[in-house]
Amino acid sequence: MSGQIKPSQANVLILIRKLHAINGRYIMQLKLPLQIKTMYKTEKTYITKDKKMLNLINENYSLLLCLQHFDIDFAVDNKTVETLCSENEIDPHTFIIIANLYNGFFPGENDITKIKDIKPVLSFLKNSHSFYIEDKYPELKYYLGKLKNNNSSKDFQMIEKFFVDYFEEVLEHLRYEDEIAFPYFYRLKEKDGVVDKKSFSAKEYRNHHTDIETKLTDLKNLFLQHLKIKSDLNIKRKFLNTLFGLEFDLKIHSIIEEKVLIPLIEKIEGK
Ligand SMILES: [Fe+2]
Ligand SMILES: [Fe+2]
Repeated sequence: MSGQIKPSQANVLILIRKLHAINGRYIMQLKLPLQIKTMYKTEKTYITKDKKMLNLINENYSLLLCLQHFDIDFAVDNKTVETLCSENEIDPHTFIIIANLYNGFFPGENDITKIKDIKPVLSFLKNSHSFYIEDKYPELKYYLGKLKNNNSSKDFQMIEKFFVDYFEEVLEHLRYEDEIAFPYFYRLKEKDGVVDKKSFSAKEYRNHHTDIETKLTDLKNLFLQHLKIKSDLNIKRKFLNTLFGLEFDLKIHSIIEEKVLIPLIEKIEGK
């Protein structure tokens, strides 16, 4: 009978829903059938001061990029987050907020207002800019050049043009932050809020701040949907891997700028 689940099918079904009343609210509990086991942990750890960095990296290696943007070496020994931060003179509270974004946890408003110094945030963001300009952009250009050798299709030309235009926009965005916005934020910090506010403002930065991740997602999807070059699968996969990695890091980057940096700057300006 259609719509009815046989007992054998029930074993294959991934979700078994149960309703539980907790604190007066109903939540839906999702359970895997007994014979389906996960190969690895599917949820990431919420990072706290006492966690061992080695375990965190083994669980989520994208934290290496987080360490790199903070200028922390990857030889983490058996150190906790707190020790590592203290050795590298980084406020652990700031580190934990940012590192948790890499593990998928969004900070609360209270967490952000507890950040005392914007310098580590600015330095993290500036290092990310260098990483995009000096590492990711040339890498993508290199793979695209390799693909171009075997492709002269209209689809490829369209994607290449999209890529060139997109990165011109990204480079302009990063230049603007490096040369105008961030120097103002540093001056504001050094003079404890006393600078010529007419020269620039957090408000202007907020209004000028554009979304550079959505177009990257478009580029990735253009590639996935339209570019049929079976012979270059290896290069295509490497190009896509780089795009996925860049997309992930850029999303976190934008969250830091909009949800962490701007509120902190507005707080200093309001003094
Ligand atoms: Fe930025
Ligand atoms: Fe930005």
